Amino acid sequence: MEQLANIQALRAWRGNIAGSLGFVPTMGALHEGHAALINRSTAENEHTIVSVFVNPTQFGPGEDLHKYPRTLEADIALCDRHGVSAVFTPNSALMYPAGFTTWVTVEGLTDKLCGRTRPGHFRGVATVVAKLFNLVQPTRAYFGQKDAQQALVLTRMARDLDMPLAVITCPTVREPDGLAMSSRNRYLDARDRMRALSIYRALQAAETGLAAGEADVPTLKRTMWTELEGNVDRVDYVEIVDAADLGSMETIDRPALVAIAAFVGSTRLIDNIILSP
Ligand code: PAF
Repeated sequence: MEQLANIQALRAWRGNIAGSLGFVPTMGALHEGHAALINRSTAENEHTIVSVFVNPTQFGPGEDLHKYPRTLEADIALCDRHGVSAVFTPNSALMYPAGFTTWVTVEGLTDKLCGRTRPGHFRGVATVVAKLFNLVQPTRAYFGQKDAQQALVLTRMARDLDMPLAVITCPTVREPDGLAMSSRNRYLDARDRMRALSIYRALQAAETGLAAGEADVPTLKRTMWTELEGNVDRVDYVEIVDAADLGSMETIDRPALVAIAAFVGSTRLIDNIILSP
């Protein structure tokens, strides 16, 4: 497996490979969710490249940029075990050289859900991923459904800007007890981890409600709030929105994204499921 730490090395490697290239962009602290994206990529492509870059422009002031887990050695070992062809590990000076002033903004989709409380987050994500797509020139790029809004934003960006690749969204990988895998789960102590399970339980409560015939969105959201109250420390949002464009809906009469962002201690966790009528 090649380790590429700068843009020249990446371009030289890219120029020398033939056939399809799958790409898994990450911020490191890799877990089984990332491994599932890598496995899908290696199954569908002749080569797979993983990037590891903690992107400063997608963190707001006061967010966890500085404490974000950095585990490069273990990340490289995981990539190696899973048959990755190359790992790209640029630093901030390479990705954002002095005088950098160009940004990618996906309008509409980014005003909602996480975009409301994390202004600038999706501009940072879209910009870094557009740069990575330009550098890596993948055939296919893989993202997790856990970050449902991110996957929609990046799919829209690739379509709107005619980027010549397929953006593929893969199912959320969960711990046996239902907790969605996330690099931020490392912040949780045993008690917080137990409390965090209420997020998935709240999603399941919506699913159970719909299965029992309750399709009214305000009613389902109230059920979800009941599950969260007393467990999480702060709810950022509980939403049931159109799964295709994040538009509001009153009744689940088409595929719906049921999504939660909540703080357990100081850790902000997100999770979602898709429900269909
Ligand atoms: O999902 C992530 O890990 C990041 O948002 C991404 C897509 C790698 C961009 O920094």
